[in-house]
Amino acid sequence: MSEFIRTESSESVLQLRIDRPDKKNALTADMYAAITRALNGAEADPAIRVVTITGGGDCFSSGNDIADFLRQDLTDIEATPVGRFLSVLAGFRKPLLAGVNGVAIGIGVTLLLHCDLVYAADTATFQLPFTNLGVVPEAGSTQLLAQRIGQLRASELMLSGERIGAARALEIGLINQIVPATELATLLATRASTLAAKPAASITATKALLRRQPEALGARIVLENAEFVRLLQLPEARAIMQAFLDRRRSG
Ligand code: COA
Repeated sequence: MSEFIRTESSESVLQLRIDRPDKKNALTADMYAAITRALNGAEADPAIRVVTITGGGDCFSSGNDIADFLRQDLTDIEATPVGRFLSVLAGFRKPLLAGVNGVAIGIGVTLLLHCDLVYAADTATFQLPFTNLGVVPEAGSTQLLAQRIGQLRASELMLSGERIGAARALEIGLINQIVPATELATLLATRASTLAAKPAASITATKALLRRQPEALGARIVLENAEFVRLLQLPEARAIMQAFLDRRRSG
């Protein structure tokens, strides 16, 4: 485990913290590898139901370590730590919640597009400076950002490379909610434990449906129907519905 990635688990929630504040939580190959291991571990552990990600100090992440960009051979990028991280992140089946506690840049923003819920401190800022650096955005973000905030807004952020504040991020639908910085950790923990308490099979199936790329509506309804019927047979759903009926009868 990289010394810059901290993990802690409590009550079904794995908390993951990017913790390299003196470099504004810039991500190195070792750090991507550590996050990937943590996500794989969380995926395989039935006791973990939700993962949260945040940054140490006053920053979420300033993106890829720029020195690493120049140092590393990324020719076969899918086989590198960042390539594997993106693949595991994109396929992660359990809810992933982010708490953006300050500056989020580059992959510090594009990874948010793979998070299911994103909360931010009022001090948070967001920037996709890929065109400023002479490269292109990654992580499926040229598709996912437009899906999240709309094509024109995605073009504005990605072509201009300009930074926006938390209020604008909320207005355009990049994040769910803003809270004072001192309240972010509590909000994140509360939201995570609420999801962790719900039937796990229902949560993962709902996330999988939400994450599918667009398809013919009829095909989606057929898929939802199949999942609905499958989940309805599970003891957890049956017990919840039976308890509802029993309460009404006795009340
Ligand atoms: N990669 C490597 N080092 C980084 C970094 C990054 N992405 N972001 C910040 N750092 C380092 C700085 O080099 C500096 O290191 P030093 O103290 O050894 O000189 C330290 O973090 C603090 O950064 P500094 O620029 O002094 O802080 P700041 O508060 O003035 O600005 C940022 C913070 C994040 C706005 C600014 O550092 C920045 O724009 N970083 C680059 C972001 C970027 O382009 N990322 C790539 C996206 S694809």
